[in-house]
Amino acid sequence: MNTPKFFVIDFDSTFTKVEAFDVLAEISLNDHPERVTRKEMVIEITNLGMNGNISFRESLERRLALLEPHRRHLPLLIEKLRAVVSDSFRRNRDFFQTHRDNIYIISNGFREFIEPVVEEYGVLPANILANEFRFDATGKIAGFDETNPLSANNGKVEVLKRLSLPGDVYVIGDGYTDYEIKHSGLANKFYAFTENVEREAVVEKADHIAPSLDEFLYLNKLNTAISYPKNRIQVLLLENVHPIAVEMMKAEGFNVETYAAALTEDELCERIRHVSVLGIRSKTQVTARVLEHANRLMAIGAFCIGTNQIDIPTATRKGVAVFNAPFSNTRSVVELAIAQMIMLMRGMVDKSNKMHQGVWDKSARGSFEVRGKKLGIIGYGNIGTQLSVLAESLGMKVLYYDTEEKLSLGNATRCKGLRDVLQQADVISLHVDGRESNTHLIGEREFAQMRKGVIFLNLSRGHVVDIEALRKYVMNGTIAGCAVDVFPYEPVSNDEVFQSPLRGLPNTILSPHIGGSTLEAQENIGQFVPAKMMDYINSGSTSNSVNFPNLTLPTLENAHRLIHIHDNVPGILARINQVLADNGVNIVGQYLKTNEHIGYVITDVNKLYDKEIVTTLRAIEHTIKFRVLY
Ligand code: NAI
Repeated sequence: MNTPKFFVIDFDSTFTKVEAFDVLAEISLNDHPERVTRKEMVIEITNLGMNGNISFRESLERRLALLEPHRRHLPLLIEKLRAVVSDSFRRNRDFFQTHRDNIYIISNGFREFIEPVVEEYGVLPANILANEFRFDATGKIAGFDETNPLSANNGKVEVLKRLSLPGDVYVIGDGYTDYEIKHSGLANKFYAFTENVEREAVVEKADHIAPSLDEFLYLNKLNTAISYPKNRIQVLLLENVHPIAVEMMKAEGFNVETYAAALTEDELCERIRHVSVLGIRSKTQVTARVLEHANRLMAIGAFCIGTNQIDIPTATRKGVAVFNAPFSNTRSVVELAIAQMIMLMRGMVDKSNKMHQGVWDKSARGSFEVRGKKLGIIGYGNIGTQLSVLAESLGMKVLYYDTEEKLSLGNATRCKGLRDVLQQADVISLHVDGRESNTHLIGEREFAQMRKGVIFLNLSRGHVVDIEALRKYVMNGTIAGCAVDVFPYEPVSNDEVFQSPLRGLPNTILSPHIGGSTLEAQENIGQFVPAKMMDYINSGSTSNSVNFPNLTLPTLENAHRLIHIHDNVPGILARINQVLADNGVNIVGQYLKTNEHIGYVITDVNKLYDKEIVTTLRAIEHTIKFRVLY
């Protein structure tokens, strides 16, 4: 017969996120004139007790005297404590219900507020080991049951000794008194619970550190609410990604490691072995060789727009989902484009340069408002459409051309061809993507079709414009002003000199590819990418993934979710369903999407099934990755 297991769990800062006495102080001293000094004294006395300078009983007596608690304070205290039950305890209600006979709550706190909080989770009143208040006739808390060992030093050890549990005992807590139970030989293992507080002296002594109850349950094969403890998911964030990303991923409970620079291929091959989630910016090259070493990798987040630095076909073949931030800096690019067209329409670059040389040239010649002018947008995607909206609000008339059928926003007019835009527009702004076929989309022939005096902007990609032709048409006066942010060749670092035929041209704004570079955009990227990756890990949703078929999934409720990634060959869905049917598994929902390379099948099933089917599903030929969420 198996030895029974008993679970002994601390209350303050373990079952709940807080110390109940701190909350009681807030309530009972709320209107008290000495509330500030009294609260400070309570903290001081608590520390004196913890350091052994006074006995626990004395500390309890002195604290109660300062707090002056009353029976009427208890309902609010209970309400507040119920609201701050630790997150991982909330997630794992099942554990408390399934093992209720063997779960004990042990605390130097008081039954009057502990019982109503833990009993909601199914803890039996008889299994609550805590102190008890003594009330006077008016309801004031006048003291406590002094015969209870928990009101004295070494109380937890004493109570457990008396209980003499007939089996293996596991203690979970954040404090030294919890460790002492193990130390005295009354428990097999002590788990330092660090979800709310982490005390060095306690962590040092622990058999295991449990950053959440999930970890404890996983270690002991008791997990039913969460498939895999998040603290076991290793996240590696390189290249100084925005602190908000680090914060978000830590708050989710992941084990996050950061590194300020990019890593070389060799370094990354070494570091990536244990990593489940990798975050990079544009410098880290995620090559096929790196991916060969990435046995645990589930997702890569590119904290930027482009994903050329990642070997996408290999990532896809290995079942690694890639995410980026395709529109986090859209607004930044648009604001700059608007500013530039206004500046150029007013000849501001040359005027400002002259002023710096001491030339005062006051005249309205060649200066125009943008209001009423025709703006021709080429490429009506994320940026093009946003520019369309803002430009209209300035009173411009918007024309656009896109190779794809697009919804015209506001009063924008769609043109049938590029030529229509080029011939009509007063201002032309390029916002096409950087696909190879867009090389020299605008060259000699296109410039020749433009109106004389046109303003020309390129904030898209450098190779889209033939630079020599642009120079010629600025010099011959067809183009009255231009702004270029992107170049066919861009210096690799700030140390390199910028060479370009465009240097020195009149009324020409040149900027070092900073259209999207604002702090707001950085922050947006920092939030967007982790949110997408966490959604993928927690629910399987792949919305906005660069390489996975995009599926937005409903929240998982009362079911297990089987996530199957496979080569896109015929018949896999049928095989999955055959395995489920053979085992009488009840399917609650199923979602399938494929792209050229992979198939992505999500099957939500009723919780009761033979767990052996997981092995069978994993063994289906052409399976790339398989995981279960619950
Ligand atoms: P997007 O992919 O949302 O939009 C591009 C649009 O151009 C699509 O609607 C597409 O159908 C259209 N298109 C492609 N080729 C075309 C052609 N030959 N003629 C007409 N339409 C064509 O891209 P998004 O996010 O709007 O970005 C646009 C460009 O801006 C990209 O090249 C991107 O790399 C660049 N960019 C530049 C930044 C900077 O710092 N300067 C920052 C962010 C993006």
